[in-house]
This record gives sequence, structure tokens and C-alpha cells, in this order.
Amino acid sequence: MRRKVIAGNWKMNMTPSQAKALIEETKPLVAGKDNCDIIFCVPFVDIHAAQEAAAGSNIKIGAENVHFAPKGAYTGEISAEMLKECGVDYVIIGHSERRQYFGETDETVNLRTKAALEAGLKVILCLGEVKEERVNGITDEVVSMQTKLDLKDVTVDQLANVIIAYEPVWAIGTGLTATPEQADETCGVIRNTIAKMYGAEAAEKIVIQYGGSMNAANAAELLSKENVDGGLIGGASLKAKDFSIIVNAAQ
Ligand code: 13P
Repeated sequence: MRRKVIAGNWKMNMTPSQAKALIEETKPLVAGKDNCDIIFCVPFVDIHAAQEAAAGSNIKIGAENVHFAPKGAYTGEISAEMLKECGVDYVIIGHSERRQYFGETDETVNLRTKAALEAGLKVILCLGEVKEERVNGITDEVVSMQTKLDLKDVTVDQLANVIIAYEPVWAIGTGLTATPEQADETCGVIRNTIAKMYGAEAAEKIVIQYGGSMNAANAAELLSKENVDGGLIGGASLKAKDFSIIVNAAQ
């Protein structure tokens, strides 16, 4: 049985004081829900406030991106060592918004993933097809290719610190959700790809989340699917009540 992981991706939302308030509000609603891991991935400037607010609770704090170089002339970027020293446990890499708006490619996603893992961070690696790819029937090929390229040269030991978030781009922030069957099937394709790359045991163990308009109303059905091991939640993670309903659905 894989342990479910429910993670919020706050994106560019919440100031530090708002972050503190949201976590204070969420904490009692998810207290004692220990059958899944609960993570909030927050903007860099919120990390400190979020950690203070989450201290002593079952909520862990992650970041939303990391650079691949250890240090240097990369204005505006943050290194894995910086995150590590700030006490961050998790980092999202390869989100479609990074790929779409900030020129991330499978190559840079792979570099960031390796740098994060080498620094001892746990990675939430995002991948998924765009609408045109699903319409043209090449979803399986796309997610399989992304899995291979994004995890190139990642060892089987390092894979233990990787969560994959399957996020169909057409479902992100659109209110359109993959059907539970689509989510299960495509998470299964990713798992099969992992099996080919790393063997059956690693494929059985790896946590594969679904993300894309997951909300309080549809979470239970999505999370009931065999290959869906959790959720990466955008909009609904900004509302304490909705997020806690999703956490409950994972119990
Ligand atoms: P929404 O839940 O707002 O669709 O966002 C999903 C997402 O991008 C999580 O990373």
C-alpha cells in the first residue's frame, strides 16, 4: 500500500502574513489525519512564516522551484543548498507554468531534479500533456517521454525521494478535470515507464499524484483509483476547508 500525499501548490499567492493565517486555519482541520502526508509548497518569501505556523503540526513545507547550479550569477534564482538550509523538505520541479511561461524544458527540469536530489531535497516532479496532445491520442507517448527525460541519470536510490505529479495541462486552473479513469490510466502509463526504467519494485513504490482542478467535490473519486496516490492541488489549497476535505478524502 502506497501512502498518499496531498500537496498544495500555492503558486504566486499569499503574502507571509496571509500564509501564516491560512496555515493556522488549516492546522486544526487536518490535525490527526495521519494516513497521508500533507505538504504546502509556498512562494520562497513565505517559507519562514509557513514553517513557523506549521511547527509541531502534520503539515510539511516545500518550495515551488529550485535552480540547478550550486551558486553563481543567476539573478533571481534560488539554489538547493539555500532551500535545504532554510529547512525545506520538498520542492516542486517542472510545473507546466514554469515550462509554459519561463522556458523550462525537459533538460532544465532534469538538471534541477538532479541538483535538488543531490542536496537531499524531496522532489515533486510535474509532467503532463497539453490539450492538443490528448486530442491527437499521443498522451501516453508524451508522459512516457517526459518521465524518461526528466529522470535521466537519476539513480534508483534517488528515485525514493521523487514524487511524480501527473498534471494534464488542459486541466490546470480550468475547472476541467481528467476523469478518474483518465487520471488512473495515465498515472498507470507513468508507473509502467518507471517499471521499465527502474524495475517493478521501484514502480510499485513510487507515489504518483494527480493534479488539475482537483477539489473538494471530485477528490474522493480521483483518489480512489489504484494508480492515483495523492493530489497536487492549486486553487483549492488556498481554502482551508476545501483543502481539508481533500485531505479527508485521502484517509
Ligand atoms: P488547480 O488545482 O488550480 O487546477 O492547479 C493545479 C496545479 O497546477 C497544481 O500544481
